[in-house]
Amino acid sequence: MLHPPDALGTLPTEYCLGPVDPETLPAQEEEELSEAEQLRQQARENMPPAENMVMVQDFEDWAQKVLSETAWAYYRSAADEEMTFTENRDALRRYFFRPRILQKNSTEGITETTFMGIPTSVPIFISPAAMAKLGHPLGEVNLTKAAGECGIVQMISANASCGLEEMFEAKREDQSLIYQLYLNKDRAASETLIQKVEKLGAKAIVFTVDVMWQSKRTMDVRAKLPSPAEAAAAAAAPAPASVSHAISGYQDYNLTWSDLAFIRLLKKNTKLPIIVKGVQSVEDVQLCADHGVQGVILSNHGGRQADYSPAPIDILYEVRSLRPELFDKVEIMIDGGIRTGADAVKALALGAKAVGIGRPALYANGTHGEEGVKRVINIFQEEIASTMRNIGVSKIQDLKPEMVGPAGPWVGRNRPPYVP
Ligand SMILES: Cc1cc2nc3c(=O)[nH]c(=O)nc-3n(C[C@H](O)[C@H](O)[C@H](O)COP(=O)(O)O)c2cc1C
Repeated sequence: MLHPPDALGTLPTEYCLGPVDPETLPAQEEEELSEAEQLRQQARENMPPAENMVMVQDFEDWAQKVLSETAWAYYRSAADEEMTFTENRDALRRYFFRPRILQKNSTEGITETTFMGIPTSVPIFISPAAMAKLGHPLGEVNLTKAAGECGIVQMISANASCGLEEMFEAKREDQSLIYQLYLNKDRAASETLIQKVEKLGAKAIVFTVDVMWQSKRTMDVRAKLPSPAEAAAAAAAPAPASVSHAISGYQDYNLTWSDLAFIRLLKKNTKLPIIVKGVQSVEDVQLCADHGVQGVILSNHGGRQADYSPAPIDILYEVRSLRPELFDKVEIMIDGGIRTGADAVKALALGAKAVGIGRPALYANGTHGEEGVKRVINIFQEEIASTMRNIGVSKIQDLKPEMVGPAGPWVGRNRPPYVP
């Protein structure tokens, strides 16, 4: 049985659901492997090293073969019919570039920039995602080390499977970590937690607001269903919980804008900027700005919450087209379905300050641990630099909205309103 984290954000040891990486396995007595386990072991033996992964997608393909059923189902799962999960990728594919030629210094490919006042080697961040230990025994610490080595920001999930101290100890001196908060039904616990992460040195608080109810993460629920034989044997036992449901009992779903004010009140004692994650409409970007937050992440939780909520790239396009002045009021980031450097460059050109990756970091951690996460970040860095060179841009700050828009000829109603 899985239990939620305690008030200070530490998960109990049952979360270490099993070492997957044979390199890090302590010596154990030989156990008979099931057929599925044997297949996974064979796949792991045939898996290429991280440096031979060419696309970020390669990590997902291998993760499906080598991760435990529980880990794969939890990571990959999305809500209901998974329409939003699919749309996150499909929508990105509907935006194309308008490359310019013969631009000065366009071979430079400079990816360094800042967001929320934090310098980053490339405008990619690790989105907060729970339970990295399901994929690798070292869990989120691998993400911390990889992010530190590559010079990018990691957002730590409220439901991380490593202790907060472990991650802050694993970080480099100059490395920035951001803490993601779910409001606890017990507000005093949230208050203590915010004070704790500030003391540890977090650079901002991400307040996730798109989990307004426990959604049905279809694959995760199915993976935990008992077989008919198990069900008959345990007729009187409580139904097994999906991973998502098992870890979220403490979360308060009954939130309003006044709870944002509560966090801002706490902020009086703290200097930490607040980023609201899970914004899904232009109107709510405006409201976040009105409520004095410093950043928003356009996100639908990777398609894990409201099915049929829009793709973040489309909301970003709407903000750029209808309310461009909002980019000066609040820093806008996005995540959801970002899998290539071109995806990232499209969002950056439309005005995102940085883009987040959720599953890619978890998958790469599950297949290759820290090395895998570093390779994912390097692939993004290489692809972002090469995309910029090929559309005639030397540095991130020179990306402009008119370099990207809906696929097809920009005539009639298809012409983006921001194109001069
Ligand atoms: C397995 C998993 C766990 C997640 N846990 C959290 C979480 O604890 N807090 C949070 O704000 N978002 C969480 N998310 C959402 C991610 O932060 C992010 O929004 C999403 O994964 C982005 O989509 P992508 O996976 O397509 O990159 C989780 C996502 C996944 C896949």
